[in-house]
Amino acid sequence: MIMTAKSIIIDCDPGKDDAIALFLAMASEDELDILGITTVAGNVSLELTQKNARFLCEIAGRPDLPVFAGASSPLKLPLVTAEHVHGKSGLEGIEVVEPKMPEQTRGAQQFFIDTLSMAVEQSITLVATGPLTNIALLVSKHPELLTKIKQIIIMGGARLEGGNFSPSAEFNMVVDPHAAKIVLNCGLPLVVMGLDVTHQVRANKARREQIKNIDNKVARAASALLDYSHMQNNKRYAELGAAIHDPCTIAYLIKPSLFQGVECNISIETDSPLTLGHTAVDYWGVTDKPANALWIDLADADGFFQLLNERLERF
Ligand code: BDR
Ligand code: CA
Repeated sequence: MIMTAKSIIIDCDPGKDDAIALFLAMASEDELDILGITTVAGNVSLELTQKNARFLCEIAGRPDLPVFAGASSPLKLPLVTAEHVHGKSGLEGIEVVEPKMPEQTRGAQQFFIDTLSMAVEQSITLVATGPLTNIALLVSKHPELLTKIKQIIIMGGARLEGGNFSPSAEFNMVVDPHAAKIVLNCGLPLVVMGLDVTHQVRANKARREQIKNIDNKVARAASALLDYSHMQNNKRYAELGAAIHDPCTIAYLIKPSLFQGVECNISIETDSPLTLGHTAVDYWGVTDKPANALWIDLADADGFFQLLNERLERF
């Protein structure tokens, strides 16, 4: 059977787990055709997410991939970052050198416009692994281009797991809840992978050891990033290992059978200081709001790591 690769744009804020998502995507050329990478401020400043994305492309042997800078701050709120999780550089655990790849002169919005204008209807998948600022700007400023988008796969939100940045909100959602609201209401097919599913995908000791045994530059970088995450999360998660959030989006595109979910309505809190960024997931259909997303809530974690290892071995 001849498989056609899905055309994707990855919008990210690397970020250790964004890095592993990028590696997984770059190793999967049969399934995924990466048209470009757009970066957003989130885990660290835009300046660093931009630099990190280019550095990650270079170590994965893909300096041909264009990387475009997007928004340097959320739509309405001041930027909050997550150096306490990702380190000062955003990729703590590996040494980041200045990439040789140039930063694209076009910005992320111009890249979206140019790419979507030329694309056929419903042909492009957006993958969002950071705050949704760039995608919200596209949605609100260019609604005429949205028919070109097939679906948006989002890492963000939480239902049963509460929050990881505040007691009731997940990081990507709380950093730019106004952007998330625009994207959740955009009417396109959405797949949302929140903490309920990503907390099932944990790099425990045995899984980290397997990655450590893969002998190439990219796998060594992935291993160092995972070790750093573990060290840092050790007190809280001990044997469970750190959750591997962002790569779930890419794994879903490569092998959707690794995940299960429920079509439901997701709304987001944008006002309350206490629960800002909280995703109200109407899992049981207790409102009459129509479903706006596939809420993924179950993962085959062993299957995920089998896929990740197999792909890291390709470098
Ligand atoms: C999300 O927040 C970021 O720190 C990670 O990169 C991931 O996208 C998890 O809540
Ligand atoms: Ca991220």
